[in-house]
Parts: sequence; C-alpha cells; structure tokens
Amino acid sequence: MSLISILCSRVLPALILVLALIVGWFASHEIPMGTFFATVIPLVQYHLPATIVGHGKMKGTPEVPDDMLPQPRLEKETFLELPNGDQMPQNGIGMCCRYSAYDNVLVERTTLWYLLQGGRHIDTAHLYLNHKPIGKAIKEAVKRGVPRSEIFITTKIFPTHIGYESTLKTAPKYLEELGVDYIDLVLVHFPVLFPPYITTNDCIKRGISATECRQETWKALSELREKGLFRNIGVSNFAVKHLEELEGVGAPIANNQIQYSPFTDPSVQETFQYCAKNNITITAYSPLGGMMEKDKAFAYSVLEEIATRHDRPVSQIMLRWAMQCGAAVIPGTGNPKHMRQNLDIYNFELSREEMATIDNLKHGKHAEKFMHIDVRAFD
Ligand SMILES: NC(=O)c1ccc[n+]([C@@H]2O[C@H](COP(=O)([O-])OP(=O)(O)OC[C@H]3O[C@@H](n4cnc5c(N)ncnc54)[C@H](OP(=O)(O)O)[C@@H]3O)[C@@H](O)[C@H]2O)c1
Repeated sequence: MSLISILCSRVLPALILVLALIVGWFASHEIPMGTFFATVIPLVQYHLPATIVGHGKMKGTPEVPDDMLPQPRLEKETFLELPNGDQMPQNGIGMCCRYSAYDNVLVERTTLWYLLQGGRHIDTAHLYLNHKPIGKAIKEAVKRGVPRSEIFITTKIFPTHIGYESTLKTAPKYLEELGVDYIDLVLVHFPVLFPPYITTNDCIKRGISATECRQETWKALSELREKGLFRNIGVSNFAVKHLEELEGVGAPIANNQIQYSPFTDPSVQETFQYCAKNNITITAYSPLGGMMEKDKAFAYSVLEEIATRHDRPVSQIMLRWAMQCGAAVIPGTGNPKHMRQNLDIYNFELSREEMATIDNLKHGKHAEKFMHIDVRAFD
C-alpha cells in the first residue's frame, strides 16, 4: 500500500471523525467559547489553565491581607450619567483576557484588591465564566465596609443566549451567580452569532433574521429591567446600523462597549459620534491595547514623550486620553500595583494639543498593526 493510499483510506477518515466529534461537542455544550478562552489565554501566557489543572494552582495576584480595610473612594472621581439617572464610574476594571481572569482564586483576590483600593466599577460577562468568584469578593468587600450601592457591576449576555425566551431564561441567573439582587448594567455582548453556536441558538432554530433576533433580545432585556433585576441595559460591539435597529424597541440604550484606544481604526469614530448624539455612553475596552498589543502601544514614541512630560507611565496617558474623549475605561489587570496606577488618573489632565497629537495616531499606518474588530461587517 502506498503512503498516499494509507493517508486517504485511514488517516484522513480518522481526522474527519475527530474533527466532527470536536465540532459536535462545541455545538452541543452550553459555554464552549468561554471554556476555550479560559484554556487558551493562560496557555499563551505560559500558565497551566484552571480548566485543566483546577482552580487555585496558578501563581499571580497575591493574597489580600485579612486586616486590609477599604480606602476611601477616589478623589475627583468622574462619572457618566445613564438614562435612569444612575452614575457609572468612568474608571473600572476588566475581568477577562489575561491568565489571572480565569482562575477563581485569582479572580476573587483581584476583585477584592480592586474594591479595597477605591475602585468601584467591575466589568465581567457570562463568557468569562467568573461571576461566582467576583460575587464572593463583592460580598467580602461589603463585609469590610464597601457599600454595595457604590459598586457598579456590568455583565454581558453572550450570543448563545440571545433571543426572547432564552434571554428571559438565562439572564436572571447572573444575579444568583454574582450573589446580588440587582445588576447595574447588562449588555448584549455581540450583535452576531459565532459558528460553534449556530445549532444551539434559539433565533437560528426558529429561523428568524439577525435583526429580529437582536430586537427581541432587547425586548426581553427591557422587561427584565422593568422588573428591577437590571438597572440599565446596553450593548457591546454594536455598529451604527445595529444601534438604529433598536430605536423605539424598548428601554433606552444606556451604553455601547467598544474596542477603543489611540490605535483603534478611525471608522470607530462614526459609532462614537452616533452614541454621543443619542445619549448612549461609551465604554472603551482593551484601552491599553489588550494583552497581545499593550507592549507595542507602551513603546510608542509619541505616547512616551507625553508620558515623560507628565512624569506618568504611558498606561495612564492612554487611559486619560480615552476618558477625556468622554469614554469610561475598563483596563484589565490582576496586579494590585497596576490597579492603583490605573485608578490614579483623576489628578492630571492632557492639554488640547496633547489630545490632538494622540487623536492623530488613529489616522496613522500603525493603527493597522493593532488588532481591531470591525463591527460594521457584522450582519
Ligand atoms: N465587550 C467585549 O467584546 C470585550 C472584548 C475584550 C475585552 N473586554 C473587556 O475590557 C477589559 C479590558 O480589555 P483587555 O483586558 O483586553 O485589555 P487592556 O485592558 O487594554 O490590557 C490588559 C493588559 O494590560 C496589562 N496592564 C493593565 N494595567 C497595566 C498597567 N498599569 N501597566 C502595565 N500593564 C498593565 C494587563 O496585565 P497585568 O494583569 O499584568 O496587569 C493585561 O495583560 C477586559 O478585561 C474585559 O472586561 C470586552
């Protein structure tokens, strides 16, 4: 038997069978995408993931001292006003996309460090699989003296669960997972479905269009907001066309969370301006360039010059720039020192010239070198 015929008759069918089993498993399990990220992200950062070795094995975020008490809220802290009058702190912490966001022990420590150091805005999602440890840390912070009313929690419903019935069924479970009796802001994580889910999603099964699916998801979230389970509702990764579809459908859109940094593509500006005109607040995710791109961003000479002038790290210049543009920022970190640094951005200001210099980075060629999700392409 030749090598080619062995490949065709034995190896290829075996590979197809393995592939079919993997696709079948992904299509029939509820949170495979979350598990995928929780496994791959630690691996690319050279850590054995909790999905394989169990929680509590990764080294990273240090333990929070038992006698540590909360520091006061940040001086000169700023807020964005939401449609119901709630004030969203303009500076938060992101809870995904780095190894320390996928080990329950490190997540619990991260959240507690952040709240005790004066931070008050936590961004998570069903996809990140870390509601429970975040909830545990919130409970501990409240016990140590941080009022629940000061803590602003955002979470997101993943496309697996979009659709009217499945939103009504799934989203209320987040309250139980987080151990709270209301959530400040719940977002639709993405306007589209992703391939592994298309066999399990409610809208796909019923054969309704993507627009109808987004609109009925919005109706369901609006009903849950009416019941007081969620105080505000919003979206993420939505382009102008997706936002327009929701006009007059239910509750006002409180927030659009989008990728936003000095390096995001200028096309994002169209979404930004639409939101500003329609009282939709913006949250900037990956404001430091994200796990993969931040080192490149931090080494950018224009930013380094401005940072030297203010005697601040580049990270603070990037966060301050997004805030002065009018966005909330949610830098992700599991490092208490970085948390302090990221929170300490209220007591300096970038000049109009410095803002313009950083704005211009978006129009340069380097913007192409940074990862960017072009949401206009989503149906
Ligand atoms: N809606 C969406 O689709 C979406 C998508 C992506 C992200 N998000 C949200 O946005 C959050 C932030 O985005 P991101 O985590 O992708 O990117 P990011 O905040 O731009 O960057 C995070 C990276 O920067 C490092 N870092 C943070 N503060 C630092 C500092 N002061 N100095 C040096 N390094 C620092 C972190 O490492 P250390 O841990 O070592 O500090 C981490 O590797 C996420 O956590 C998530 O909540 C939302």
